[in-house]
Amino acid sequence: MTDHLKTDVVDGVMTLTISRPEKKNALTGAMYDVMSEGLERSERDPAVKVVLFQGDGDSFTSGNDLADFAAQSTANETTDSPAFRFIGNLAKATKPLVAAVQGNAVGVGTTMLLHCDLVYLAENARLITPFVNLALVPEAASSWLLPSRIGHVRAYAMFALGEPMDAATALQCGLANAVVPIGDVRARAATAALTLTQRPTGALRHTKLLMREQQEMVERIAEESALFKERLQSAEAREAFSAFTEKRKPDFTKV
Ligand code: COA
Repeated sequence: MTDHLKTDVVDGVMTLTISRPEKKNALTGAMYDVMSEGLERSERDPAVKVVLFQGDGDSFTSGNDLADFAAQSTANETTDSPAFRFIGNLAKATKPLVAAVQGNAVGVGTTMLLHCDLVYLAENARLITPFVNLALVPEAASSWLLPSRIGHVRAYAMFALGEPMDAATALQCGLANAVVPIGDVRARAATAALTLTQRPTGALRHTKLLMREQQEMVERIAEESALFKERLQSAEAREAFSAFTEKRKPDFTKV
């Protein structure tokens, strides 16, 4: 249970609202679990036809809670984390996923968009995947999906240099359907989601499955996750997480 993730089902649309604005919507284990429960329910409940992701406040999400990463980096044993459960559910989703994104979409905030079928960005949206800065590796099959969508060098600059991508560029690269004023982004995504609820469910399901190489994604996620868990416990990653907590630049020359 968490107050930071709200689930609503209205007119066939399940809306999952990330709501921890004071921490830029950083995602804790409990929040991932609520999103997983939503996605798992959407698969078995015919009343849910579409899932819509959105975030309260000025950011879509700042990604995984870095305090949680710091705790996992010193834990004696690594368990399968709620983040990996969520990522697995994204990859296996057969119902349409829609996103309304304003402000920063960091880490999984960007990689989850690669699993969404319709993406609407506010003009101030910024997609950021700072995995290497955190001494980690890309997740959610993004090591394959992002270069295949935007080309190797642009994806590499996002992963390795942590270069943000602005909304206009994301639209141009085909990562989004539209860029709209911030006040309109939720309504635009909600309208698209509602339109999808009126389409034949069977045709939607088969179309999505034909368009996504699900088995390959699951395999890539397994490969990434094994490396990710290993990296999470590296001295480099511990330095990156300490630096964030201490509000300083990491110094990887020491580790
Ligand atoms: N995990 C935990 N706390 C986070 C967080 C995260 N991912 N992102 C932001 N916060 C917290 C900050 O520590 C700060 O908390 P405080 O007020 O108690 O000091 C608060 O949210 C506001 O963040 P701040 O950095 O002041 O906001 P900003 O607008 O200047 O910058 C970001 C926003 C998202 C660019 C910046 O917070 C950031 O880079 N966060 C880390 C993102 C990240 O690396 N995520 C992991 C991806 S794998």
